[in-house]
Amino acid sequence: MPDRLQRLLRITPAQLRAFEATHRLRSVTRAASELHLTQPTVSVQLRELTQAIGEPLLERVGRQLRTTATGDLLARTVGQLNDCWQAFAAAQDELRGLLRGRLRIAAVTTTEYFVPSLIGPFAAAHPAVEIDLRVENRDRVVERLRLGLDDLSVMMLPPVDMALEHRPIAANPLVVIAPPAHRARNARASIALERLASERWLMREPGSGTRMATEEYFSAAGFAPRVAMSLGSNEAIKHAVAAGLGIAVISQLALTASSDQAMTLRVRGFPLQRTWQLVWRSDRPLNHAAQRFVSYLAAR
Ligand code: PGA
Repeated sequence: MPDRLQRLLRITPAQLRAFEATHRLRSVTRAASELHLTQPTVSVQLRELTQAIGEPLLERVGRQLRTTATGDLLARTVGQLNDCWQAFAAAQDELRGLLRGRLRIAAVTTTEYFVPSLIGPFAAAHPAVEIDLRVENRDRVVERLRLGLDDLSVMMLPPVDMALEHRPIAANPLVVIAPPAHRARNARASIALERLASERWLMREPGSGTRMATEEYFSAAGFAPRVAMSLGSNEAIKHAVAAGLGIAVISQLALTASSDQAMTLRVRGFPLQRTWQLVWRSDRPLNHAAQRFVSYLAAR
């Protein structure tokens, strides 16, 4: 960097304030009083500033203090510097304003076991963003997506008849669970699905994504289970299986306690390797809080 520029960059904001006030008030004494400084302090600041610039900035004509041509140039530059800081402050406010927005997320019920931990660090980093998390089954999340009620949705199977963007955000392995005393537990190798045809299968309610993925897999495998009961939540499924009412397919993430995990049955073809997707409509602009959330998830 040239010496001259280095000298200019050593000019302090205090020196510029002293100059600006003296230029505007045409008096060192008045400038000192406005800045709550002593007159010698302002004089020292002006002298150092003059040395850094290398030319006189102020001159006395009779009893009047005037700025030289270089002083006028500096006064204009100080104005431009102030404009730059003001533009910075405005941009900063705008940035804060964006992150003061609202982020509406609808997530399928099964994701309730992990979505809060995804949102946690984002919420902590952006305390002014109001986050509205709804937990519904797939059908309701899709319905809300159609109505445009949310910024982002989380589900395993995004509908194919809508203009959507989606990104995988987490694995969702689906496993078979059976009561602790189930006879198939004694098998040495994993058990074939056909051998479970006469079981009482417990299913999530119609409209559940877990149910949809399970039915798709069963039908592709040519397997027709005996559906004994539909239950409206993963917790209800776990309790019903533990109570010996039947067997079920459930997300491994819903098996939170070790007693839940112990119910996993080794079945050929399982776990079904499925993925949760972050989904949004491509025909509507994402608000800034949602854009930030998408980038935050991508950067994890
Ligand atoms: P569900 O959805 O909670 O409705 O079973 C799971 C999913 O779609 O990932």
